[in-house]
Order: sequence, then structure tokens, then C-alpha cells
Amino acid sequence: MSKTPNTIERSMVFAAANVAERAAIAAYDWIGRGDKEAADQAAVDAMRNALNALPMRGRIVIGEGERDEAPMLYIGEEVGNGEGPQIDIALDPLEGTTPTAKGMTNSLAVLAMAPRGGLLHAPDTYMQKIAVGPGLPQGVVDLDTSIEDNLNALAKAKGVAVRDLTVCVLERPRHEDVVARIRDAGARIFFITDGDVAGVISTTDPHTGIDLYVGAGGAPEGVLAAAALRCVGGQMQGRLIFRNDDERARATRTGITDFDRKYDLHDLAGGEDIVFTATGVTSGYLVDGVKKKNGTAQTHTLLLSTMEDAWRRMRGRFTV
Ligand code: FBP
Repeated sequence: MSKTPNTIERSMVFAAANVAERAAIAAYDWIGRGDKEAADQAAVDAMRNALNALPMRGRIVIGEGERDEAPMLYIGEEVGNGEGPQIDIALDPLEGTTPTAKGMTNSLAVLAMAPRGGLLHAPDTYMQKIAVGPGLPQGVVDLDTSIEDNLNALAKAKGVAVRDLTVCVLERPRHEDVVARIRDAGARIFFITDGDVAGVISTTDPHTGIDLYVGAGGAPEGVLAAAALRCVGGQMQGRLIFRNDDERARATRTGITDFDRKYDLHDLAGGEDIVFTATGVTSGYLVDGVKKKNGTAQTHTLLLSTMEDAWRRMRGRFTV
């Protein structure tokens, strides 16, 4: 048994970026071809190959699904070369399968890592989410507070009027009520058609102009977004949504006992050392998409870690 401590070495931060880059390059070939399953599969294969080359005893905690429904990168799958630290991995090889298949914006290859136990083992259900960027009073917004009160509190904390706030929301029928209330309160809506990992992260980047993220999206995506916020600051809360007994059973299998629990950022991504990386497949407001030409692929990657207090965006050039 290895005595390697369960910490994330600096070299692993860049190795994680390489894993996301490989997945994005593989997905590129499927952009705009109308086949989201094939795009996802290409990203999964590439991500798995890259992960298995890393010196770690990795375990997937957020992956492609449960073992019986996902042959690769399923929850609980061991990855890495079997030597080195015990690392938990949350991943979405293709976050935004539909925008990739349709040639639309904002699809990413995403990966987060933490020493064992550092990321919530969330079921593949929906999660109600609220998030704001860094530099605000703790608890300024809350999942259990009305959207009107959250907007008022956020505007006050930022020293602006509610009408100056922009709220990012996934465009879905289930959000019609909250969208109407946000507009009645006077704030702007920035709709996204998919990709709420990027939506949540957008609250932390002043360049996006987005002040608040609200709405229901995937729980796995919630853990990934929380990992990013742990690295750059910001606040997030999430609560799992269960539509049927099968989803409750999924949660039970991941060890969840309190179905009504409100998770805060540290519940979602509590590890001391966390790495988050996202490479653009198609271009979006966080990173540019892959460009492939004359045997070369260029990538653009957001790389964050709790060990460094910095946003790093990296450009890569690969022979393919
Ligand atoms: P996929 O890449 O799995 O298609 O997920 C994209 C996504 O938009 C997520 O970012 C989001 O959390 C989820 O789908 C929302 O689910 P739904 O499309 O069912 O509303």
C-alpha cells in the first residue's frame, strides 16, 4: 500500500487541465453534427484515457451515471495508474451535449479533483441552486429567501439598484415563475440555453456582468460549479430535487439520508485542496472553443485551484 499523502501536487493541477483539453479536442469533431451521444462518447473516451495515465488512485464521485447505465466513467469507477494519492474526481466530459451537437455556444469539458472525501457524492437528480460571486457579506442571498428579498439584499450589498442587477437563469418552462418575478422586481435576466456550470461560475467573473445565478439544474453540475467557486470565492447553496422514488433511491445509494438538506459551498465541495478545470468545446463567455486546423488543435482552458489565488486561462496547442 502506498504511503503517498492524499494531497494534490502542483503537477497534478496542470495534469488535470490536460485531461479536460483532451476531452474537448475529441468532442470538437462532433460540433454541429447533430449527434450529442457521439459527441459525449468521444469526450468520455478521451477523458478516461487521459485520467488513466495519471499517477493517482482516483475514484469517480460525479461521473457519467451509475455503473449499470454508464460503461465508462461511472460513479465509483477507479481511474489513474493505481499509484499515488487517493483523489476523488467529479467530471462532465461534455457539459452541454446539445449546444455541441447544434454548434451553439458555451459547451465545456469539465473536471474537478479533491483529496478523498472532498467532493459531495451527488445523485444524478436536479438541484435548486443559488450563487453569487466573491466579496459579498456571508449569507447575502439564501435559497430559502424569496427572490425579491434576495435581489434587494444583493443590490444593497453591491451599492446598486435592483434594476442594475443581472440574473443568470437556465431557460426552461420550470423557471417561468421566477423569471417573471425577477423582471417584476426590475432586474435583468441573462438566459442560458444549457450549461449551468458556466452559468454559476459567471457570477464570479466581473467581465460577464452577471450578479446572481438562480434556478434548478443538474446536481452533478452543482458540485462541479461549487468546486470552481471554492477556488475563486463566492457563495453557493443547493438543495436536491426529487421527482420520484427512483431519484430518492439514487440519492440513498450515494449515502444521502436528509432529502431536504440545504447544502452550502463547503458541503458541496469541502476539500482543502481543490482543482477545477474547464476547456471550451464551443466558444462561450468563460473560454473560447477548440480550433482545429492543419493537424493542430488549439484549446482555451480555465484552470483554478484552492492552492493558488488566481484565475488562470491557458491556451494550448496540440498536434493531432
Ligand atoms: P448535458 O451536457 O448533460 O446535456 O447537460 C447540460 C445542462 O444544461 C446542464 O448544464 C444543466 O445542469 C442541465 O443540462 C439541465 O438539465 P435540463 O436540460 O434537463 O433542464
